[in-house]
Amino acid sequence: MESSATDAVKGQLKMVTGVGPVILFGPPGAGKGTQAKVLMETYGIPQISTGDILRENVSQGTELGKKAKVYMDSGVYVPDELVYEMAAGRLSQADCVKGFILDGFPRTVPQATWLDTFLGNRAFETLKDCRPAVVVMFKVDYNALLQRLTGRRSCPTCGRIYNVHLAPPRVPDKCDCDGSPLIQRADDHVNVISERLKEYEKQTLPLADYYRKRGRLLEIDGDQPVEKVTSDVLRAIEHGNSL
Ligand code: AP5
Repeated sequence: MESSATDAVKGQLKMVTGVGPVILFGPPGAGKGTQAKVLMETYGIPQISTGDILRENVSQGTELGKKAKVYMDSGVYVPDELVYEMAAGRLSQADCVKGFILDGFPRTVPQATWLDTFLGNRAFETLKDCRPAVVVMFKVDYNALLQRLTGRRSCPTCGRIYNVHLAPPRVPDKCDCDGSPLIQRADDHVNVISERLKEYEKQTLPLADYYRKRGRLLEIDGDQPVEKVTSDVLRAIEHGNSL
């Protein structure tokens, strides 16, 4: 997104402190990572992407990474018990005391139950001064998801995300910010994408009901330009309503 557009969106909103936990969920390619980065800048709270943490572990060859790789390469979810330890470690870090953006976690009903229990413990006293957790669900058309995922490229240096069809870099295959050669994720190939989408339908969609019943679900049309989605997400967080 152009920084002037981001600034314009932010300028329309009254900034809050202590935003609390924000949970982003939606299918692969829904724009969770894209929007998480904007929210991180807007609210000054960290983005916690379980996918990014797992990929870091894979590239560093840790024990967790070796176990996770087998699942991630075939497009299925990493077992919950591996994810809990990783999430607990990250959420216990000092930068989470005023809130955080969860990108891709929880993604099963047991993970959501685990998170509710975990956040209810005394380590999260500081969050009591913040807003209650909000859950933002992105809805995007299937064909749009395919185009986004097959076209996605990212910069290994600064993490900026591009799309060769929809938001290409100025110079093909080079990051606009630092010139690094862009890379494609191993799971962004068509056969793996279809497995990831099936896994989402089976395991993650039931989370919508879990959060809806608890009055925490904010549903967003993710099938709009990035800036419009950002504006809707920020407004939903500020006012706590679906758009
Ligand atoms: P993860 O990395 O979380 O992947 P994912 O959920 O499949 O989501 P993506 O990262 O593909 O998409 P996104 O919604 O972030 O979209 P993005 O903003 O990048 O997980 C990967 C794997 O790790 C899983 O399959 C699983 O194996 C494992 N894993 C992770 N967490 C786990 C957990 N909790 N439990 C168990 N296993 C776990 O955008 C995509 C593209 O679209 C980009 O090119 C972008 O530029 C473009 N785009 C974004 N928004 C728009 C827009 N509004 N209009 C047009 N283009 C857009």
